[in-house]
Amino acid sequence: MLNLGILTISDKGWRGERQDKSSQAIRESLARLESNVVEYEIVPDERDIIASKLARWADEGGMDVILTTGGTGLSQRDVTPEATLSIVDRVVPGLAEAMRMRTFDTTPFSILSRATAGVRGKCLIINLPGSPRAVRECLEVILPAIPHAVGIIKGEITEHQAGKD
Ligand code: MTE
Repeated sequence: MLNLGILTISDKGWRGERQDKSSQAIRESLARLESNVVEYEIVPDERDIIASKLARWADEGGMDVILTTGGTGLSQRDVTPEATLSIVDRVVPGLAEAMRMRTFDTTPFSILSRATAGVRGKCLIINLPGSPRAVRECLEVILPAIPHAVGIIKGEITEHQAGKD
């Protein structure tokens, strides 16, 4: 059972001016995994707020994975990758690389997302772009790797089991 946090990052969503359909898309995509959403919140596109929320959830929230949605693009207010990079111990570039690359054929704008991913303590933090469609497309690509990633981060999968023999 994976314990998940979902953090929606959107000025409009935070002000109540836009319905948060992206977190719903995350929940629907994750229905395929045995998972439990233990925290969910909407925050504005403010670097310090995002960074402190991610750090606190990772340190105290008992979450295996935190998925963020939104704020990965090129507008002045998009600061999710910077906030994430400021609090992770190690970056996991392949997750975001695969999301951009594998969805490019259907969505050429996939390369405009600056999403990143990393590990803080025993928590895997992954940025997803903001639209529900992007959430669905990107999770389709990375979902199969998530349980394995969590197993390794938590030390439950040994090197031998991970196929490195
Ligand atoms: N990736 C996929 N797979 N599908 C999409 O529809 N939208 C793109 C991109 N990544 C998209 C995607 C667009 S239009 C933008 S502007 C960037 O993600 C950044 O989105 P964000 O600022 O909402 O995070």
